[in-house]
Amino acid sequence: MKSPGWTAAQWLLCLLFWGIPEPEHCYLYNNRYAGDKVIRLVPETEGEAHVLKNICHQFKVSSCTTGGPMAAQQHLLCLGRNGYRCPYSPKWLSNPVSLLTTSQHPVHLGRRSRAYKRAVWIDCGIHAREWIGPAFCQWFVKEALQTYRSDPAMRKMLNHLYFYIMPVFNVDGYHFSWTNDRFWRKTRSRNSRFRCRGVDANRNWKVNWCDEGASFHPCDDTYCGPFPESEPEVKAVAHFLRKRRKHIRAYLSFHAYAQMLLYPYSYKYAKIPNFSCVESAAYNAVIALHSAYGVRYQHGPASSILYVSSGSSMDWAYKNGIPYAFAFELRDTGHFGFLLPESLIKPTCTETMLAVKNITMHLLKKCH
Ligand SMILES: *[C@@H]1O[C@H](CO)[C@@H](O)[C@H](O)[C@H]1NC(C)=O
Ligand SMILES: *[C@@H]1O[C@H](CO)[C@@H](O)[C@H](O)[C@H]1NC(C)=O
Ligand SMILES: [Zn+2]
Repeated sequence: MKSPGWTAAQWLLCLLFWGIPEPEHCYLYNNRYAGDKVIRLVPETEGEAHVLKNICHQFKVSSCTTGGPMAAQQHLLCLGRNGYRCPYSPKWLSNPVSLLTTSQHPVHLGRRSRAYKRAVWIDCGIHAREWIGPAFCQWFVKEALQTYRSDPAMRKMLNHLYFYIMPVFNVDGYHFSWTNDRFWRKTRSRNSRFRCRGVDANRNWKVNWCDEGASFHPCDDTYCGPFPESEPEVKAVAHFLRKRRKHIRAYLSFHAYAQMLLYPYSYKYAKIPNFSCVESAAYNAVIALHSAYGVRYQHGPASSILYVSSGSSMDWAYKNGIPYAFAFELRDTGHFGFLLPESLIKPTCTETMLAVKNITMHLLKKCH
């Protein structure tokens, strides 16, 4: 988690580049995708979705995303030859500037009162290219500070709970996604035998490590790493959570995109012991989220509504005794995908905030 060493002058240079309106100038990234093209295909049935998946595999498409097993009407985005749009403008760029300078350590919020206080952990940006995540963490901190006095719910939350917030979990990867490769996902660690860099920081946890839904190959986007907690970012957070697991009641991790609120298990199809409490928290949270702009989220166990993946932070948190472990997949369902435009940052953060507050208030009540 070393500092990216990104100076103000470099940011300014970057802003100047992004200020030029021609889309060609958005190719600040290396040429990993030079000459690529975005093909958007919307399968109507499960069968079509399956066929498209196979096609994407055969043609070695760089990134092929489906919305999960039940998402027949969801978009399937295939990245092929020749170019994609660049909806981010310099205004949105100014956000991470301040973020990067403060993201080396978790932010700690909450009124100091009793010696023993329960806590909520929030992290954003485990995956580099999912930019809406770090934007949300920043939004959460801003909202907490600005509405503490005026909003009784926020006051109650901060009086009764501590919040640990890690605005950018994967700092090096996030930085790389700004400078070189907009679609970078992993960390930036080196491999001794391969030239490919990086480990999937959400496959690197010690919970059925590198089982189904993770790869042993260092060049894959879901590479689990040479051993569990090989990544310093994962090791540091795991250590932090292990030390405080007795008082951390909820673990919330922010990803994009799919519009889903996921809970364990990720690595297997099975019901968690505390299913009813967790399920009702998720159910209410997505209703609360929907009340803002009518955006619909699916909710349920990650393995059944998204896909099976092992070594995830959410499963790890749950297995280590944090009873409410959730992963949000924020907007959208694939129209913009990782390139969610600037105009959608605020509404996305606003509605997500309602869900987070709802889950938090749920924690303050007894659940049987
Ligand atoms: C979850 O279940 C365990 C035992 O099965 C129990 O001790 C714990 O209090 C439960 N937590 C919640 C939030 O229901
Ligand atoms: C949480 O959301 C549910 C469903 O919208 C709502 O009934 C409940 O009042 C909300 N709770 C809080 C504390 O916001
Ligand atoms: Zn992610």
